[in-house]
Amino acid sequence: MDYSNLLLAEEDGILIVTINREKALNALNTQTMLELKHLFTEDVPRRSLKGVVLTGAGPKAFVAGADIKEFMGLGDQGGQEMAQRGHDIFFAVERCSVPVVAAVNGFALGGGCELAMACHMRVAAASARFGQPEVNLGIIPGYGGTQRLIQYIGKSKAMELLLTADMIDAKEAHRLGLVNHVVPAGEEVGHAKALIEKTATKGPVAIAKIIETVNAYFAEGTDGFAEEVKAFGETTRTEDFKEGASAFTEKRKPNFKGS
Ligand code: CAA
Repeated sequence: MDYSNLLLAEEDGILIVTINREKALNALNTQTMLELKHLFTEDVPRRSLKGVVLTGAGPKAFVAGADIKEFMGLGDQGGQEMAQRGHDIFFAVERCSVPVVAAVNGFALGGGCELAMACHMRVAAASARFGQPEVNLGIIPGYGGTQRLIQYIGKSKAMELLLTADMIDAKEAHRLGLVNHVVPAGEEVGHAKALIEKTATKGPVAIAKIIETVNAYFAEGTDGFAEEVKAFGETTRTEDFKEGASAFTEKRKPNFKGS
Protein backbone atom coordinates (compact mmCIF):
# COMPACT_ATOMS: atom_id res chain seq x y z
CA MET A 1 0.00 0.00 0.00
CA ASP A 2 1.17 3.53 -0.74
CA TYR A 3 0.84 5.52 2.43
CA SER A 4 -0.26 9.11 1.98
CA ASN A 5 -0.94 10.09 5.61
CA LEU A 6 1.71 8.02 7.35
CA LEU A 7 5.45 8.56 7.07
CA LEU A 8 7.47 5.39 7.63
CA ALA A 9 11.15 5.24 8.44
CA GLU A 10 12.97 2.09 9.55
CA GLU A 11 15.96 2.79 11.79
CA ASP A 12 17.99 -0.15 13.15
CA GLY A 13 14.97 -2.46 13.00
CA ILE A 14 12.63 0.05 14.64
CA LEU A 15 9.79 1.38 12.51
CA ILE A 16 9.10 5.06 13.18
CA VAL A 17 5.57 5.89 12.04
CA THR A 18 4.59 9.54 11.86
CA ILE A 19 0.94 10.46 11.41
CA ASN A 20 1.34 13.24 8.90
CA ARG A 21 -1.65 15.60 8.77
CA GLU A 22 -0.09 18.47 10.64
CA LYS A 23 -2.54 21.12 9.39
CA ALA A 24 -5.43 19.12 10.89
CA LEU A 25 -3.39 18.35 14.03
CA ASN A 26 -3.00 14.79 12.70
CA ALA A 27 -6.71 14.06 13.15
CA LEU A 28 -7.61 10.50 12.21
CA ASN A 29 -9.66 10.63 9.01
CA THR A 30 -10.84 7.53 7.14
CA GLN A 31 -7.74 7.37 4.94
CA THR A 32 -5.40 7.54 7.95
CA MET A 33 -7.38 4.80 9.70
CA LEU A 34 -7.21 2.62 6.57
CA GLU A 35 -3.47 3.14 6.47
CA LEU A 36 -3.09 2.27 10.17
CA LYS A 37 -5.16 -0.87 9.54
CA HIS A 38 -2.94 -1.94 6.66
CA LEU A 39 0.18 -1.09 8.64
CA PHE A 40 -0.68 -3.19 11.68
CA THR A 41 -2.48 -6.09 9.96
CA GLU A 42 -0.34 -6.52 6.82
CA ASP A 43 2.87 -4.53 6.89
CA VAL A 44 4.28 -4.80 10.43
CA PRO A 45 3.69 -8.60 10.71
CA ARG A 46 5.67 -9.12 7.47
CA ARG A 47 8.65 -7.04 8.55
CA SER A 48 11.23 -8.31 10.98
CA LEU A 49 11.12 -5.51 13.55
CA LYS A 50 12.30 -4.83 17.09
CA GLY A 51 9.27 -2.59 17.57
CA VAL A 52 7.25 0.36 16.35
CA VAL A 53 7.23 4.00 17.49
CA LEU A 54 4.07 5.98 16.73
CA THR A 55 4.21 9.76 16.74
CA GLY A 56 2.59 12.81 15.15
CA ALA A 57 3.96 15.36 12.69
CA GLY A 58 4.88 18.80 13.99
CA PRO A 59 5.38 20.10 17.51
CA LYS A 60 1.73 20.67 18.38
CA ALA A 61 -0.15 17.41 18.23
CA PHE A 62 0.27 13.66 18.48
CA VAL A 63 -3.32 13.22 17.26
CA ALA A 64 -6.17 15.65 18.08
CA GLY A 65 -8.83 12.96 17.69
CA ALA A 66 -10.99 11.45 15.03
CA ASP A 67 -11.56 13.89 12.15
CA ILE A 68 -14.64 15.74 13.37
CA LYS A 69 -15.32 17.42 10.01
CA GLU A 70 -15.46 14.02 8.34
CA PHE A 71 -17.79 12.15 10.67
CA MET A 72 -20.26 14.89 11.57
CA GLY A 73 -23.65 13.89 10.22
CA LEU A 74 -23.19 10.16 10.69
CA GLY A 75 -26.31 8.41 11.95
CA ASP A 76 -26.51 5.59 14.47
CA GLN A 77 -25.59 2.87 11.98
CA GLY A 78 -22.71 4.85 10.43
CA GLY A 79 -21.44 5.82 13.87
CA GLN A 80 -21.45 2.22 15.07
CA GLU A 81 -19.59 1.10 11.95
CA MET A 82 -16.99 3.84 12.45
CA ALA A 83 -16.47 2.83 16.10
CA GLN A 84 -16.26 -0.88 15.25
CA ARG A 85 -13.66 -0.20 12.53
CA GLY A 86 -11.67 1.88 15.03
CA HIS A 87 -11.87 -0.86 17.66
CA ASP A 88 -10.62 -3.48 15.19
CA ILE A 89 -7.67 -1.29 14.19
CA PHE A 90 -6.71 -0.35 17.75
CA PHE A 91 -6.95 -4.02 18.82
CA ALA A 92 -4.51 -4.78 16.00
CA VAL A 93 -2.13 -2.21 17.52
CA GLU A 94 -2.62 -3.63 21.02
CA ARG A 95 -2.09 -7.22 19.81
CA CYS A 96 1.03 -6.44 17.78
CA SER A 97 3.65 -9.06 18.66
CA VAL A 98 6.47 -6.51 18.93
CA PRO A 99 6.35 -3.53 21.31
CA VAL A 100 4.53 -0.46 20.04
CA VAL A 101 5.45 2.76 21.87
CA ALA A 102 3.58 6.04 21.48
CA ALA A 103 5.89 9.07 21.42
CA VAL A 104 3.33 11.71 22.37
CA ASN A 105 4.59 15.03 21.08
CA GLY A 106 1.60 17.29 21.83
CA PHE A 107 -2.20 17.02 22.04
CA ALA A 108 -3.44 13.43 22.41
CA LEU A 109 -7.18 14.01 22.47
CA GLY A 110 -10.16 11.79 21.81
CA GLY A 111 -9.09 9.19 19.25
CA GLY A 112 -5.50 10.39 19.79
CA CYS A 113 -5.55 9.55 23.49
CA GLU A 114 -7.26 6.28 22.54
CA LEU A 115 -4.54 5.45 20.01
CA ALA A 116 -1.82 6.20 22.57
CA MET A 117 -3.62 3.93 25.05
CA ALA A 118 -3.74 1.08 22.51
CA CYS A 119 0.07 1.19 22.37
CA HIS A 120 2.06 -0.92 24.83
CA MET A 121 3.90 2.04 26.37
CA ARG A 122 3.72 5.83 26.19
CA VAL A 123 6.54 8.37 26.31
CA ALA A 124 5.26 11.93 26.57
CA ALA A 125 6.95 15.21 25.76
CA ALA A 126 6.60 17.60 28.70
CA SER A 127 4.37 19.68 26.40
CA ALA A 128 1.90 16.83 25.75
CA ARG A 129 -1.74 17.14 26.75
CA PHE A 130 -4.18 14.25 27.16
CA GLY A 131 -7.95 14.18 27.24
CA GLN A 132 -11.20 12.67 26.08
CA PRO A 133 -13.14 15.81 25.10
CA GLU A 134 -15.93 14.02 23.21
CA VAL A 135 -18.70 15.17 25.57
CA ASN A 136 -17.90 18.73 24.42
CA LEU A 137 -19.20 17.57 21.03
CA GLY A 138 -22.19 15.75 22.49
CA ILE A 139 -20.76 12.30 21.78
CA ILE A 140 -18.77 9.71 23.71
CA PRO A 141 -15.36 8.22 22.87
CA GLY A 142 -15.68 5.61 20.13
CA TYR A 143 -12.21 4.10 19.82
CA GLY A 144 -12.02 2.37 23.22
CA GLY A 145 -11.57 5.39 25.52
CA THR A 146 -14.32 4.48 27.98
CA GLN A 147 -12.65 1.10 28.53
CA ARG A 148 -8.89 1.62 28.27
CA LEU A 149 -8.77 4.82 30.34
CA ILE A 150 -10.16 2.83 33.29
CA GLN A 151 -7.48 0.19 32.75
CA TYR A 152 -4.74 2.79 33.13
CA ILE A 153 -6.00 5.26 35.74
CA GLY A 154 -8.93 3.54 37.51
CA LYS A 155 -12.67 4.16 37.37
CA SER A 156 -12.86 7.23 39.59
CA LYS A 157 -10.38 9.43 37.73
CA ALA A 158 -11.40 8.02 34.34
CA MET A 159 -15.02 8.88 35.08
CA GLU A 160 -13.98 12.44 35.96
CA LEU A 161 -11.92 12.99 32.81
CA LEU A 162 -14.61 11.44 30.58
CA LEU A 163 -17.45 13.42 32.19
CA THR A 164 -15.69 16.80 32.42
CA ALA A 165 -13.58 16.61 29.21
CA ASP A 166 -10.74 18.12 31.28
CA MET A 167 -7.31 17.96 29.70
CA ILE A 168 -4.33 16.87 31.77
CA ASP A 169 -0.68 17.69 31.21
CA ALA A 170 2.12 15.15 30.83
CA LYS A 171 3.15 15.41 34.48
CA GLU A 172 -0.37 14.59 35.69
CA ALA A 173 -0.71 11.82 33.09
CA HIS A 174 2.51 10.34 34.49
CA ARG A 175 1.32 10.69 38.08
CA LEU A 176 -1.91 8.87 37.19
CA GLY A 177 -0.07 6.05 35.40
CA LEU A 178 -1.27 6.91 31.91
CA VAL A 179 2.24 7.54 30.58
CA ASN A 180 5.44 5.66 31.34
CA HIS A 181 7.94 8.49 30.98
CA VAL A 182 7.94 12.28 30.53
CA VAL A 183 10.89 13.78 28.67
CA PRO A 184 11.81 17.24 27.35
CA ALA A 185 9.97 18.08 24.11
CA GLY A 186 11.84 16.71 21.12
CA GLU A 187 13.29 13.74 23.01
CA GLU A 188 10.17 11.55 23.01
CA VAL A 189 10.96 9.55 19.85
CA GLY A 190 14.55 8.88 20.98
CA HIS A 191 13.33 7.77 24.38
CA ALA A 192 10.69 5.51 22.83
CA LYS A 193 13.38 3.96 20.60
CA ALA A 194 15.60 3.36 23.64
CA LEU A 195 12.75 1.49 25.37
CA ILE A 196 12.35 -0.72 22.31
CA GLU A 197 16.12 -1.30 22.11
CA LYS A 198 15.98 -2.54 25.70
CA THR A 199 13.19 -5.02 24.89
CA ALA A 200 15.14 -6.15 21.80
CA THR A 201 17.87 -7.59 24.04
CA LYS A 202 15.30 -10.05 25.49
CA GLY A 203 13.88 -13.28 24.08
CA PRO A 204 11.56 -12.30 21.19
CA VAL A 205 9.13 -15.18 21.80
CA ALA A 206 8.89 -14.18 25.46
CA ILE A 207 8.27 -10.53 24.49
CA ALA A 208 5.38 -11.59 22.22
CA LYS A 209 3.96 -13.86 24.94
CA ILE A 210 4.15 -11.07 27.55
CA ILE A 211 2.06 -8.86 25.25
CA GLU A 212 -0.45 -11.71 24.72
CA THR A 213 -0.82 -12.61 28.39
CA VAL A 214 -1.03 -9.03 29.67
CA ASN A 215 -3.76 -8.37 27.09
CA ALA A 216 -5.49 -11.56 28.27
CA TYR A 217 -6.11 -9.93 31.67
CA PHE A 218 -8.55 -7.54 29.98
CA ALA A 219 -10.08 -9.91 27.43
CA GLU A 220 -13.66 -10.84 28.23
CA GLY A 221 -14.20 -14.53 28.84
CA THR A 222 -10.46 -15.24 29.02
CA ASP A 223 -8.71 -16.57 32.11
CA GLY A 224 -5.41 -14.67 32.12
CA PHE A 225 -3.88 -17.07 34.66
CA ALA A 226 -4.70 -20.03 32.40
CA GLU A 227 -3.21 -18.12 29.44
CA GLU A 228 -0.06 -17.55 31.48
CA VAL A 229 0.27 -21.28 32.28
CA LYS A 230 -0.06 -22.09 28.55
CA ALA A 231 2.33 -19.37 27.41
CA PHE A 232 4.89 -20.22 30.10
CA GLY A 233 4.89 -23.80 28.83
CA GLU A 234 5.35 -22.59 25.27
CA THR A 235 8.31 -20.38 26.19
CA THR A 236 10.04 -23.17 28.13
CA ARG A 237 10.30 -25.29 24.97
CA THR A 238 11.89 -22.55 22.83
CA GLU A 239 15.46 -22.34 21.56
CA ASP A 240 15.44 -18.89 23.16
CA PHE A 241 15.03 -20.44 26.61
CA LYS A 242 17.85 -22.90 25.95
CA GLU A 243 20.03 -19.99 24.90
CA GLY A 244 18.95 -17.74 27.79
CA ALA A 245 19.56 -20.44 30.39
CA SER A 246 22.93 -21.42 28.82
CA ALA A 247 24.03 -17.79 28.72
CA PHE A 248 23.07 -17.43 32.39
CA THR A 249 25.11 -20.45 33.49
CA GLU A 250 28.04 -19.49 31.22
CA LYS A 251 27.93 -15.90 32.53
CA ARG A 252 27.62 -14.33 29.07
CA LYS A 253 25.04 -12.27 27.18
CA PRO A 254 22.38 -14.34 25.40
CA ASN A 255 22.13 -14.36 21.63
CA PHE A 256 18.41 -14.90 21.05
CA LYS A 257 17.12 -16.02 17.66
CA GLY A 258 13.39 -15.66 18.30
CA SER A 259 12.51 -19.32 17.98
N1 CAA B 1 -10.79 16.90 13.60
C1 CAA B 1 -10.68 17.67 12.52
N2 CAA B 1 -9.92 18.78 12.48
C2 CAA B 1 -9.26 19.11 13.61
C3 CAA B 1 -9.34 18.35 14.78
C4 CAA B 1 -10.15 17.17 14.75
N3 CAA B 1 -10.25 16.33 15.79
N4 CAA B 1 -8.59 18.94 15.74
C5 CAA B 1 -8.05 20.02 15.18
N5 CAA B 1 -8.45 20.14 13.90
C6 CAA B 1 -8.10 21.19 12.94
C7 CAA B 1 -8.87 22.48 13.21
O1 CAA B 1 -10.18 22.42 12.68
C8 CAA B 1 -7.98 23.49 12.54
O2 CAA B 1 -8.22 23.44 11.15
P1 CAA B 1 -8.46 24.81 10.30
O3 CAA B 1 -7.13 25.51 10.41
O4 CAA B 1 -8.77 24.31 8.93
O5 CAA B 1 -9.56 25.53 10.97
C9 CAA B 1 -6.58 22.94 12.79
O6 CAA B 1 -6.75 21.56 13.08
C10 CAA B 1 -5.89 23.59 13.96
O7 CAA B 1 -6.73 23.48 15.09
P2 CAA B 1 -7.18 24.74 15.99
O8 CAA B 1 -7.20 25.99 15.17
O9 CAA B 1 -8.45 24.36 16.69
O10 CAA B 1 -5.96 24.80 17.00
P3 CAA B 1 -5.98 25.37 18.49
O11 CAA B 1 -4.55 25.47 18.90
O12 CAA B 1 -6.81 26.58 18.60
O13 CAA B 1 -6.70 24.21 19.37
C11 CAA B 1 -7.14 21.95 20.00
C12 CAA B 1 -6.10 22.94 19.47
C13 CAA B 1 -7.46 22.27 21.48
C14 CAA B 1 -6.52 20.56 19.94
C15 CAA B 1 -8.43 22.03 19.16
O14 CAA B 1 -8.07 21.89 17.80
C16 CAA B 1 -9.45 20.97 19.46
O15 CAA B 1 -10.16 21.08 20.45
N6 CAA B 1 -9.56 19.96 18.58
C17 CAA B 1 -10.58 18.94 18.71
C18 CAA B 1 -10.26 17.95 19.82
C19 CAA B 1 -11.38 16.93 19.94
O16 CAA B 1 -12.52 17.26 20.23
N7 CAA B 1 -11.04 15.65 19.74
C20 CAA B 1 -11.99 14.57 19.79
C21 CAA B 1 -12.52 14.28 18.42
S1 CAA B 1 -13.86 13.15 18.43
C22 CAA B 1 -13.16 11.62 18.65
O17 CAA B 1 -11.96 11.47 18.66
C23 CAA B 1 -14.15 10.51 18.79
C24 CAA B 1 -13.55 9.17 18.97
O18 CAA B 1 -13.21 8.77 20.07
C25 CAA B 1 -13.49 8.25 17.86
